[in-house]
Amino acid sequence: MGKNVVIIGTHWGDEGKGKMVDLLTEKADAVVRFQGGHNAGHTLVVAGKKTVLHLIPSGILHEQVTCIIGNGVVVSLSDLFKEIDELEATGVNIRDRLLVSQGCPLILPHHIALDKAREKKVRNNQKIGTTGRGIGPAYEDKVARRGLRIADLFDEQKFKTHLEEIMDYHNFVLEKFFNTKKIDFNETLAASLGYADQVKPMVTDVVSELTRLRKSEANILFEGAQGSLLDIDHGTYPYVTSSNTTAGAIASGCGVGPMYLDYILGITKAYTTRVGSGPFPTELFDSTASHLSKKGDEFGATTGRPRRCGWFDVHTLKRVISINSISGLCITKLDVLDELDTVSLCVNYEDKDADCPTPIYEELPGWQESTSGAKSLKELPKNARAYLERIESACEVNIDFISTGPERLDTIVLNNPYD
Ligand code: IMP
Repeated sequence: MGKNVVIIGTHWGDEGKGKMVDLLTEKADAVVRFQGGHNAGHTLVVAGKKTVLHLIPSGILHEQVTCIIGNGVVVSLSDLFKEIDELEATGVNIRDRLLVSQGCPLILPHHIALDKAREKKVRNNQKIGTTGRGIGPAYEDKVARRGLRIADLFDEQKFKTHLEEIMDYHNFVLEKFFNTKKIDFNETLAASLGYADQVKPMVTDVVSELTRLRKSEANILFEGAQGSLLDIDHGTYPYVTSSNTTAGAIASGCGVGPMYLDYILGITKAYTTRVGSGPFPTELFDSTASHLSKKGDEFGATTGRPRRCGWFDVHTLKRVISINSISGLCITKLDVLDELDTVSLCVNYEDKDADCPTPIYEELPGWQESTSGAKSLKELPKNARAYLERIESACEVNIDFISTGPERLDTIVLNNPYD
């Protein structure tokens, strides 16, 4: 029997999903992205070589696997082909095993201009801190039912008429409301249509392909981007991304119904980070924050911005586990805590309804020994194990993986859902 396994970030993204997708792909036949766009930044380190992926599923480094971009993903063709070219330059063959849904909404230059103009204009500290890649405006066009999709590229005349209409609208907003430069229609048209022939061989009815794979008992891996607290409905609104980042998005974002999912892995860092604005109850501003930031190399993979750092938030994680129906957890970057005297877990909030509630902490002793590269539980210091056991007992979910370094092999595997 094939298995459908899902990888979801439990907090605000950057939990280390890319490495775990890459690791689980060893046993997968297909890897699927179902939401978000190239705002994601998934870092993989294989044999000392670092690869950062934004749009292409993180399973691509495994030659046997088919990589699929579902209809829920917003696609910038220029960025897709930039990523394809970069991977091809390193010898990874891609074009015959990357499938893209005809229903993916296109991110066009006016979406990027709108994203940036909006962030510049906002007052009262309401800046979202977006990645500036046009993600939000592209989803807005989709929901407003005026967006262009990949399938539209293959009827030039219709594409031209439709693009002219929506660019008239967006250029009006750019010029008159944001007092910024409009985007050139002819350039946008030529650039978009210029990708049509290149993308055409990859364009597929993803729903049929995934049904075929499921019936042929393939192992399918669904790769979430961003994190559960950036979900447009369940996240820290309005400081969120524009898609549903939780497991429920799989059904709508690539057409695999919820009853077909077998196991959902929640990836969670051994502490918490957030990039961009918005509430972060366990955020630290002291020397521990600088330590986590430095040792954890906490800079955004997409924008290079420094990530805010804080303690592990079990209280929020419990809610995230319910929203996603998480089956097991993977704790990443445990080694970043190695030098600390004590470690804290947020187990509750004092004022649950506050915009940024005050955490109630439980303090545990640190371990001051290296956990870096550990491959079995036995290799972990007693206090590190106690920290993990406390997370498990508080969340009532098992930890199935512990990632102890950036390489595939730096992982303690307790329960692989594909075994
Ligand atoms: P957008 O997705 O570019 O619209 O940005 C909205 C919010 O989501 C901002 O706070 C971004 O920093 C955050 N965000 C988007 N993608 C990622 C990601 O892959 N990792 C972490 N934060 C992200």
